[in-house]
Parts: sequence; structure tokens; C-alpha cells
Amino acid sequence: MTRSAHPRVVAHRGASAALPEHTIGAYELALKEGADGVECDVRLTRDGHLVCVHDRTIDRTSNGTGVVSEMTLDELAQYDYGRPGEPADLLTLRQLLELVMDFTSVPVKVFVETKHPVRYGGLVESKLLAELARFGLATPASADFSRVVVMSFAAGAVWRIRRAAPLLPTVLLGETSRYLRGSAATTVGATAVGPSIATLREHRDLVDRAALSGRATYCWTVDDPADVELCRELGVEWVATNHPGRTKLQLDAA
Ligand code: G3P
Ligand code: CA
Repeated sequence: MTRSAHPRVVAHRGASAALPEHTIGAYELALKEGADGVECDVRLTRDGHLVCVHDRTIDRTSNGTGVVSEMTLDELAQYDYGRPGEPADLLTLRQLLELVMDFTSVPVKVFVETKHPVRYGGLVESKLLAELARFGLATPASADFSRVVVMSFAAGAVWRIRRAAPLLPTVLLGETSRYLRGSAATTVGATAVGPSIATLREHRDLVDRAALSGRATYCWTVDDPADVELCRELGVEWVATNHPGRTKLQLDAA
């Protein structure tokens, strides 16, 4: 995995431009639109379940309020995560894995981003590995064949995954080029680096630099067609987008 001639498309929080993020409908649509991968953020509930929620609270994405880590799965599940007229349930990581693993047409990958690594210092990663093990996904034959990629902005979280499951591919996400150019990715053994598209526009050499150390590049969140084309020209391996169908069509036509 280094420079790619044809980026693969990751549906960011599902097909989240069309349907509410992190809902089963958004992921079903992403699969229907031909996404090569799906991205989800995971948080731990108070009673130890992994749920697909981006924010610390459910205030923005549901009709309820509260901090995810202070609520039980049952408490969280009583709220609506859709939008007016289109109700949707809370999604657990288990339900998402079931959906993707039951989709047998093509081996779609699941990019799992662990949130709140500081507060739970390792618990979220060990819960994640246990959940992956239920599906036989924690010990792939090789990183290239893994159906799951684990990502985090926290080097410590990536390091914990690499130590516990050395063959699982990982992405060290970063907000700044300085961080992604530094030694963190090497130190923790990340298999890819993950700049934002804003960072990549300003620092186009990041893809080649990653490739020189044997790392692929995963870029987020790439919604503008001009940015999709830039990623293609630079050799980005994975583009995460809220518009998977449109992005797939653009890249297939290129
Ligand atoms: O795919 C990585 C990207 O999702 C990181 O940012 O805030 O959307 O989780 P965020
Ligand atoms: Ca994310």
C-alpha cells in the first residue's frame, strides 16, 4: 500500500449527504451506490456497548440530549436518530458489521474510528477487538486482506491496536501536516496516514512522503469533485466522502 492509481471510495458516516449520518439507511445506500468502504465513529456507552455516534453527546444527531458515555444502550436507544418524517434507530457497531458482512457481492471494508481515547484509555480498543473477534475480523491473514481498518487521531489508540492485533491495518489521522510528517506514524506502526483534504491541498507532498515509508494515504472528507480529482492525481489510496455514489461515478469515469 503506497500510491494508488485509482482511489477507493469510503462512505463517510454512510451516504451521509443523502441520509442521516450513522444510520442503517445511510450505510445501506452507501453499499447500493458501490462504496468500497464505509466509515463510522464509535463510542462506548456507560454499560460497555460500542455505538456509532460522532459527537460526545447525542444532541446534534437525535431528538434526545445527553453524553453517550454517561448513558446506557437502552437509554440511548429510546431516541430518534433520523429526521422529521424519516425516523431512524441508534446504530451499534455490531449492527453495522452484520450489515456489511452480510453484503457478499464485494468485500467492502469498514473503517472504524475510535473516539474518546483519553477518557477510556484502552477500554474502547479492547472492546473493539472483542467485537471484531465475534465476526472473525480481529486476526486477518494479512493487512491487505483485512475487512476492517482501525483509525484514530490519538497515536496511543493506534499503538494499542497494533500491539494487540498486529495484522489489523490502521490509519493515524491528523489535523496538521507537521504531525503527519513527524515520527508518530512510524513509532506506532500505522499502516496509513490520514490528512484532511484542507491539509492535503496545502501539503501535496504528504502522499509521496507516506509512500516512501511504505504508507498509504486516507484523505477526509472529500466532497468537492475538484478535490476528488486532486486525490486521484496525487495517488491517495482512500477518499472518505459524504457522497459515495457521485464520487464513485467520477473516479470510474476518470
Ligand atoms: O474519516 C476521518 C474523519 O471522519 C475524521 O474526522 O470529525 O469526521 O470524525 P471526523
Ligand atoms: Ca470520523
